[in-house]
Amino acid sequence: MSSSRSFDRVLVINFGGQYTHLIARRVRELSVYSEIVNYAEASQQLVEELRPRAVILSGGPSSIYAENAPKVGSWVLELGIPVLGICYGHQLIASMIGGRVERGLGEYGKTEIEIVERDPIFNGWNSREFVWMSHGDYVAELPKDRAVVLARSVETGYIAAFKLIDRPAYGVQFHPEVVHTPKGKRLLENFVIGIAKAQQNWVLGSVIDMIVEGLRKTIPPGEKVLCAVSGGVDSTTTALLLKKAVGNGLVTVFVNHGLLREGEAEAVLDMLKSLGLNPIYIDASGKFLEALRGVRDCEEKRRIIGELFAKIFKDIAESDKSIKWLAQGTTYPDVIESGFATGADRIKSHHNVAGLPQWLGLKVVEPLKYLYKDEVRRIAVALGVPEDWAYRHPFPGPGLAVRIIGEVTEEKLRIARRASRIVEEELAKAGLYRSVWQAFATVGDDKWVGVKGDKRAVGYVVTVRIVESEDGMTADWSKIPHDVLEKIASRITREIPEVTLVTYAITSKPPSTIEPC
Ligand code: XMP
Repeated sequence: MSSSRSFDRVLVINFGGQYTHLIARRVRELSVYSEIVNYAEASQQLVEELRPRAVILSGGPSSIYAENAPKVGSWVLELGIPVLGICYGHQLIASMIGGRVERGLGEYGKTEIEIVERDPIFNGWNSREFVWMSHGDYVAELPKDRAVVLARSVETGYIAAFKLIDRPAYGVQFHPEVVHTPKGKRLLENFVIGIAKAQQNWVLGSVIDMIVEGLRKTIPPGEKVLCAVSGGVDSTTTALLLKKAVGNGLVTVFVNHGLLREGEAEAVLDMLKSLGLNPIYIDASGKFLEALRGVRDCEEKRRIIGELFAKIFKDIAESDKSIKWLAQGTTYPDVIESGFATGADRIKSHHNVAGLPQWLGLKVVEPLKYLYKDEVRRIAVALGVPEDWAYRHPFPGPGLAVRIIGEVTEEKLRIARRASRIVEEELAKAGLYRSVWQAFATVGDDKWVGVKGDKRAVGYVVTVRIVESEDGMTADWSKIPHDVLEKIASRITREIPEVTLVTYAITSKPPSTIEPC
């Protein structure tokens, strides 16, 4: 993030650990900017250019002795800044200084450790505390002239924490970033604030100023930016930040692709106007539905929708030659999940990430690229977005096309819309709307025989999906009270005659994804 020079930064080098994201989030919760870099990209040159205040080496699934084990060089200890290795990172530092890592008994879950040497990293910790462990290998030995053991597991005696003698580099075998390590947040605070002395200036006002300043530097005067808004918190916030940065240089457009939720187009237009955004309104629903006719595959639907959007943007840009930029509401998890930051396999092609065709000929600007959703929501409210809108559930760009399994038909659209509205209404009535991440109803081509009146009727199966999540990357199915589920189910079958069965999706992500396709 080139424009974040004024923010102290903590760099998290990712070795593929399942909790790496949490490390960055916890650091940001301390009001310190934190960024994740994949180990393969973390060259000495890059890290020196980024000038972080501290480096954290994440956990990871490998053994450091495995062939092709992910590594960074021991230059990381020579940067003159504090380093913290967590789990795999802890073992990596140990091996860099000539320590011995071996296959051990394995410690998984809640584990008691004893602090054997006091150090500022354990400020606020009692001499015995519970931590969360998840490792097979362990640090069996450390060279005495290089490191001092700070803590050991009570049961196994394994080294749970150590510090290098001549520099502020630490290793912890446990995971301070997970809630199951009750004092973990305190340890990270001790490291980031106490030891690395990072400034706590990653606060709302300065983040907004930094983004706006960055946009002004990026977009030359006289060049306009096209920003498509959907009413979602990401695109609305993107537009508001751009308005602050370039004023009349911003052209907003709201495209109705006919795949929106019930009553959404009108409500979104009203909300955007109240924020002074006055978008160009394009009703392209006929075009989109026509292009989707007969298409059953979800990735194909995404491709068609993305391409149609791009064509609409192209037409607008051709009608105003000063439009040189396209703004996108990409957030940090989109970047990570699309595999750009981690090299991970692509799961679904979120069309707002690098999915734009070259022929569009517009440069891309993504002001939210480094922000988590909760940060975007707080910025939205600070910029005047009504709370109800800022805390609306995320809704995919391709809309109901990815909530309808199989072909998108008028009938299935009507069912998905009405049923989803019922789900949202009943959750709101039960006071549960804000506590879940997403809640909706999906429909496919499966049929179920029902009895309506005293007649047999064959109808659609509707699946209700309600999940809890921090950022959509992983999710738990929500344990909604049965009476609320019952109300939802009975309203759906009563109010939508074509539906004969309602099911509730009780698979978390992973292994499922949140959307049905
Ligand atoms: P999945 O279904 O991949 O969803 O677990 C994770 C989050 O991403 C949203 N999602 C999308 N958003 N375009 C978007 O803008 C898409 O094609 C898309 N597919 C999924 C989904 O709603 C959830 O919040």
